[in-house]
Amino acid sequence: MKVLLIGGGGREHAIAAALKRSSRVEKLYCAPGNAGIAEIAECVPIGVMEFEKLIAFAKEQQIDLAVCSQDDPLCAGIVDAFEAADLKIFGTRANAAIIEGSKAFSKNLMKKYGIPTASYEVFTDADAAIEYLKTQKFPIVLKASGLALGKGVLICQDYDEACAGVREIMLDRHFGDAGSEMVIEEFMTGREVSALAFCDGTHYALMSSSQDHKRIGDGDTGLNTGGMGTFSPSPFYTEEIDRQCRERIYQKTVDAMAAEGRPFTGVLYFGLMLTQDGPKVVEYNTRFGDPETQVVLPRMETDLVDVMEACMNGTLEQIQLKFSDDAAVCVVLASGGYPEHYEKGKVITGLDVLAKRDDIYCFHAGTRFDEAGHVVTSGGRVMGITALAPDLKSARAKAYEALEDVSFEGKYFRHDIGKALDAVL
Ligand code: AMP
Ligand code: GLY
Repeated sequence: MKVLLIGGGGREHAIAAALKRSSRVEKLYCAPGNAGIAEIAECVPIGVMEFEKLIAFAKEQQIDLAVCSQDDPLCAGIVDAFEAADLKIFGTRANAAIIEGSKAFSKNLMKKYGIPTASYEVFTDADAAIEYLKTQKFPIVLKASGLALGKGVLICQDYDEACAGVREIMLDRHFGDAGSEMVIEEFMTGREVSALAFCDGTHYALMSSSQDHKRIGDGDTGLNTGGMGTFSPSPFYTEEIDRQCRERIYQKTVDAMAAEGRPFTGVLYFGLMLTQDGPKVVEYNTRFGDPETQVVLPRMETDLVDVMEACMNGTLEQIQLKFSDDAAVCVVLASGGYPEHYEKGKVITGLDVLAKRDDIYCFHAGTRFDEAGHVVTSGGRVMGITALAPDLKSARAKAYEALEDVSFEGKYFRHDIGKALDAVL
């Protein structure tokens, strides 16, 4: 079949690689793709929000399956638009993608259906938010309700910092319109684990667990980013935790969305915190996580197209997901300065060395070809270097050794991806 993947980040490179492994995919297109995806798919210069152009392309090329796993187009209704044009697409309809698009919606959903999460209040007025803060304990967490590239969360240590945060989000609109509504919630402590599940509206099939590192600096310091590195599986996601999540969170969420008339189809991402009172939901996303996908999909042995079709046909119950026993570690190489100001257009060298290895994946995120045909940086997160090995410790050592082969000016990475593992391995 002919498949059109929509997007162009590290997550899409990992999805493209998994689609490419499927015996059912004859031709893979990616819009817009990037310099790495171009090696395994035909890249088409159409942006992810250009629905009409994407639909026209899909019709013209007689695409059998489109795949979208990015929040902006999903929340803006790309699945609805493709379906209205009679095209098959894997992803979440807008009325269910709101589970990521509005934190106010997702918090209210969890409260209504008794799904464990931090206690909270929703505000649309800055004065009322500041008044509420006077009665609260600190630290406290402020969240812009809308989409903010994973950056719209402030953890405030005291009242003054929180008031400044409310002003930043609601009045200065630091995160744009995402801040017209705000959630203020209780600060939780515990380890964070990511659980991704395929959903068909009624059932879910859980993928292997993973763990992200969201802060820019070693030792979890500095600003929040889209994610600086991951490992899978997470040894902290034990069988007991899994049992609790299945009982209290996963099916309850799928059922809640169905009961609200918003059946969830696609990939549902559960950002979990393992607190002393058991696992709680920190956030939902309506898509594969990035860079979680770069460690989860390379380990998945089930044919990705079969799973996606089962999600769209409501037959997920018949699918048994299988993951390899190998562990995976991904270290993100970023442009110096990210997540704030950084330069683009730096030539990347050494990719040919890694291309020769089959135990290393080099998932491109922010890369493109320049006029001379060189691969150059074009984003904050440039690429994820994923290593597979029989255990997490050796996968980590391998990823760190492999990333030495790649060079570009300003190359930045965290040195402690998977350091938490030392406590248990
Ligand atoms: P989110 O975009 O909601 O995932 O938040 C980004 C990050 O902020 C999370 O991965 C956590 O590290 C942190 N965070 C969010 N909510 C809370 C909370 N209620 N308590 C403690 N940390 C939080
Ligand atoms: N890695 C976090 C996310 O995809 O939102």
